[in-house]
Formats: sequence, structure tokens, C-alpha cells
Amino acid sequence: MRIILLGPPGAGKGTQAANIVSAFHIPHISTGDIFRKNLKEGTPLGLKAKEYMDQGLLVPDDLVLEIVKDRLSEDDCKQGFMLDGFPRTEAQAEALDENLKTMGASLDTVLNIEVDHELLIERITGRRICKKCGATYHVKFNSPKEEGKCDLCGGELYQRADDQEETVKKRLDVYTQQTQPLIKYYEEKGILKTINGQQDIDKVFEDIKVVLQGER
Ligand code: AP5
Ligand code: ZN
Repeated sequence: MRIILLGPPGAGKGTQAANIVSAFHIPHISTGDIFRKNLKEGTPLGLKAKEYMDQGLLVPDDLVLEIVKDRLSEDDCKQGFMLDGFPRTEAQAEALDENLKTMGASLDTVLNIEVDHELLIERITGRRICKKCGATYHVKFNSPKEEGKCDLCGGELYQRADDQEETVKKRLDVYTQQTQPLIKYYEEKGILKTINGQQDIDKVFEDIKVVLQGER
């Protein structure tokens, strides 16, 4: 199964990706997570990406395309994968098509998680992430049992540097300008499935499962 999670910042891509991985056992490729991991390790790629991420801008296509191409060439992606946060521009979508062609593969489904933009600011500014295992929480909608601590591993929870309100607004603008056109791109290919992302986390996943089980 080869799928893409599409949707604005805060739509719940990362949250649902964790659910999809446990149910369908496919590698989860999040370009945002790859950049954050590189930044934590202090690599040149991480430091370069930070310049853009902190401003709510997209990292240049050439940097993104290289890391995705490398990742897709790894053995565990032969049977399938889930891309989260990629592609984000038409150039990235076209490059992915080319890359898949050379792999002799094609996409099965693009899950477009839809949420009204007014809701997204509250979701993102209330998001907290575990320093140790990366699990995602929300101070109101998905709070940990003990404040500031991860339910899964006891790790400390933190807020992402790009989750401040002003940066979030910029990220939403960038999404509208550069990423939203991909909805039409994949609709025209006949592989777009729209999911109502405004329901409870569990209900969103139920709807995703119905779509993906049809693909197996
Ligand atoms: P990236 O890390 O991809 O972030 P994003 O797309 O902005 O998405 P988010 O991680 O903010 O949101 P999400 O949809 O995963 O929501 P989540 O599940 O956490 O990208 C960050 C930056 O990296 C970009 O700005 C860019 O600079 C760079 N970048 C990455 N990829 C790139 C690319 N391809 N090209 C160029 N640049 C790139 O949920 C959000 C919150 O809501 C959580 O607190 C969660 O608990 C809560 N929540 C989730 N679902 C629900 C629900 N149903 N009801 C209530 N609350 C919910
Ligand atoms: Zn944890």
C-alpha cells in the first residue's frame, strides 16, 4: 500500500499516521520529522531546514526531494509506505511521480484530511510532543494523564518552535498558496479520498480504515 497524507498543518496527519502504522504496518515517512531529527543532531541539513521552518516557510524543493528519494530507495519501502507532509508543492508531486515510475510503482490513495482553518490554530498552539518518543498530545483535545508527561514513556512534553500563533498563521497561508492545489492534482488522477478531520480522533481513524481496507 502506497499512500499520502495530505492536509493543512494541524489537520491530524501525524496523529492518524501513528494509528495507521499500528494497524497497517507500513513505514511512516514524515519530512517534517526528518528535518526535526536532523536539527536535533545538528546536521547541515537540519540547520538549513530550520531557517525556513522557523519562519513557517517551506524548505526548498531540492533539499526535500533528495531526502525523500533516498528514503524511498530503502528496502522497507519496497512493499509500501505512507508519506506525511510530502508532497507539498506541485514540483514535489511531479518529482514523486517520476521517482515512483522508475521504481515501477504507483500511488494507491491520497487521504485528504479536511479541517476548517479556524480550528487549526487552536489545535496547533495546544499541541505538545514527547521529547523521548515523539507521541503527540493536545492540552485540551488529547491531554496526557499527568500534565507535561507522556502516557507511553513518561518523557517530558514540549512545544514545537514553529507552533507559535504568528508562525502558524504563516504556515496556513503557505498551505493555501502552495499545497492546496495538490487536492485537484490528485483528484484528477482519481486517487483522492477526502476525510472529515473535524470529528473525534477515533472517528477520523474509523473513516480512514474504511478507505484503506478497501485498498488491501
Ligand atoms: P510538518 O512537520 O509536516 O508539519 P505540518 O504539515 O505543518 O503539520 P503538523 O505536524 O503541524 O500537523 P499534523 O497534521 O501532523 O497534526 P497533528 O496530528 O500533530 O512540517 C513542518 C515544517 O517542515 C513545514 O512548515 C516546512 O517548513 C517543513 N517541511 C516539511 N515537509 C516539507 C515539504 N515536503 N516541503 C517543504 N517543506 C517541508 O495534530 C495537531 C494537534 O491537534 C495535536 O495536538 C493533536 O493532538 C490534535 N488533534 C489531532 N487530531 C485531532 C482531532 N480529530 N480532534 C481534536 N484534536 C486533534
Ligand atoms: Zn513518550
